Amino acid sequence: MWVTALSQLFPDSRDCALMLSGSSQAGFAGIDRAGRPGCITYEAVNEAFLQARAKVRLRHPHRSTTVFTLAQLGSALQETTRLLADRFRLSSDDIALDLPRINTQRTDIADFCPRSHRTDRRCDVTRYRRHDGDCNNLQHPTWGSALLPFKRLLPPAYADGVSEPRANREGFPLPNPRVVSAHVHRDEGPHDHAVSLMFAAWGQLMDHDLTFTAETKDPSDLREPNCCGSGRLRHPNCLPVSLPPDDRFYRLYKQTCMNMLRSLAGVSQDCLLGPRAQTNTATAYIDGNFLYGSNVRLGDELRLLKRGLMKVLPAFSDLGLKDLMPLKLQFPDDGCIRSSPDIYCFLAGDNRANENMALAVLHTVFLREHNRIASELGDINPLWDDEKLYQETRHILAATVQHITYTEFLPMLLGKETVEKYDLVPKSEGYWDGYDPNVDVTIPSAFVTAAFRFGHSLLPSVLERWSPSHVRIGAQRLSEVLKRPLDLYKPGWYDQYLIGLVNQVAQAMDHGITHEVTNHLFQQPSHRYGMDLASLNLQRAREHGVPGYNNYRHLCGLQPLRRWSDMLLALPNETVRRYQQVYEHPDDVDLWSAGISERPIPGSLVGPTFSCIIAQTFRNLRRGDRFWTITGDQTSEALSAAVRRKRQLADCTSVCDGLARLPHVGEKLTQNPENEYNIHPYTGM
Ligand code: HEM
Repeated sequence: MWVTALSQLFPDSRDCALMLSGSSQAGFAGIDRAGRPGCITYEAVNEAFLQARAKVRLRHPHRSTTVFTLAQLGSALQETTRLLADRFRLSSDDIALDLPRINTQRTDIADFCPRSHRTDRRCDVTRYRRHDGDCNNLQHPTWGSALLPFKRLLPPAYADGVSEPRANREGFPLPNPRVVSAHVHRDEGPHDHAVSLMFAAWGQLMDHDLTFTAETKDPSDLREPNCCGSGRLRHPNCLPVSLPPDDRFYRLYKQTCMNMLRSLAGVSQDCLLGPRAQTNTATAYIDGNFLYGSNVRLGDELRLLKRGLMKVLPAFSDLGLKDLMPLKLQFPDDGCIRSSPDIYCFLAGDNRANENMALAVLHTVFLREHNRIASELGDINPLWDDEKLYQETRHILAATVQHITYTEFLPMLLGKETVEKYDLVPKSEGYWDGYDPNVDVTIPSAFVTAAFRFGHSLLPSVLERWSPSHVRIGAQRLSEVLKRPLDLYKPGWYDQYLIGLVNQVAQAMDHGITHEVTNHLFQQPSHRYGMDLASLNLQRAREHGVPGYNNYRHLCGLQPLRRWSDMLLALPNETVRRYQQVYEHPDDVDLWSAGISERPIPGSLVGPTFSCIIAQTFRNLRRGDRFWTITGDQTSEALSAAVRRKRQLADCTSVCDGLARLPHVGEKLTQNPENEYNIHPYTGM
């Protein structure tokens, strides 16, 4: 009967873009307002897209692809989704699982869909990774490429099924993010743990190799629109955090609003319909893109285009000191707090390089390392031209980042048991041959908005400077070196910060977050308050539609904690008590908040939920990368030699190379320097 009815209504079944299953919670799915059952036609999609384009003012297909042009198309696709959802009364599941099955290449959307997002194209096989990661996977060219969206481990939990930030399980607003931050993530003083600050800094650098969510900015000057002013014309992506009048800190400064904008809307591969997506402007692959950029235009801008070298600022050549990163002369205020117009931050492959001093130091380490390797390769291969030297060096640098991450960082973060369980142990001899083209490396939303933000818990309130003989010689408040890495202009301070990273112990991995980032994040020099990073984390995951903590426990095969008393199994008593005071139900608790508070797996820093999300992601990052360090056909002589050398140096890294002349540096730079097992292989100290 169903088939007969359909064929009568749609004599040409090729018109049907999607048969509806009738699974809607409301029981209406499959019936449009005109009472027609069963099918969303291509015509209906085209009508909705036309209406949506008018709303977002998308008149013609864009000739070039940028985050901003993609955001406009992404908003049109989101609006099309909303119109179809309304017209066909689709449930959240229909929107998330069925709408993306419509073949948009048979609709007017195809004309607007950029080539970079199409899957029906052939890849040219190249010798080296492309800067944008495109065609790393020859069968799935978009997997892991820059400018594609994050993937979902679970269907999104948007309040309206399309784009509205997550609500609580009853459909009402979740607790104010600042209330959760101020109540649960209080700064409760320093807690020593087993890792040095280098561990946290490496985590952030690693994150910046994997993710960079597209932010809402004014395309003309890259400034962030203000959502807290009184003007009526608010940016549509405004999502400020309201600060409660009784907030113990912000009330002192009469602040009631913290600026925040939604991440730009993204466009999925083949420009499919479905709930709002968010763009990763970085490649997912571990490829050193924080140094080289995630598009070839920036990549070229950073190159000297001679002898394989990158551009540098020879600020101290007269003092015999090494180079700094080049100056960021274009849009100098983007990501930089400048005390005067003639002071500049630094230019790198990732615009966040200036975000804090520790990060800027590590960027400088790798920039110098690139130029050191390129020069050495040039000396022993005089016939190699600039391009060959640059690409071989870039390949070695990516391998170095991979090596440090898998030999040193992940075992410390996840513990021995988990790295073995997820096959994350690097090979100590021979070549990696586990490449699997069916593995999608795309970074999950839960990883970028929550799990890999674990590092925010490790942040200290000051950054220490230490002398080459390992004496603490000074410290700067953390908030004073955010977006202001200007101490690098002081001769010798780079080394002091670098040695400080190895010697300073990070804060414990727990619910506590330093007030340097919960009250003073990116504080302007003339102010006494800044923003709150914990609130941003919570609001960000909600606006990306990331489901709550319990959903991820379930996904990871852990028991969901449905009663407050159950929560005591995984979280400290005090945290559960505080949750009870702000959340309505354990299912509402946000992933980042509970993830950092979870009791760690023995021998690791994080609890089972974050461990599962992070370990899966890193397993995919290795197995799904065709250019991973060296597989049989990717072997490069230079790289083989570099890997051999790395293995000889045990876990000591290129960071070590810069420090090798120092006595008393631990073998593991990311481990607590006081740890008695942390012995340097050279010095035996
Ligand atoms: C002083 C140090 C740090 C500062 C000031 C800082 C600040 C920030 C800020 C402002 C954001 C964006 C928040 C938003 O609007 O959503 C962010 C995102 C993030 N942070 Fe941090 N962070 C620091 C250290 C770290 C560390 C140590 C890690 C990990 C080990 C980390 C991991 C992340 C991740 C994964 C994101 C998401 C990035 C993306 O959206 O692509 N951060 N951080």
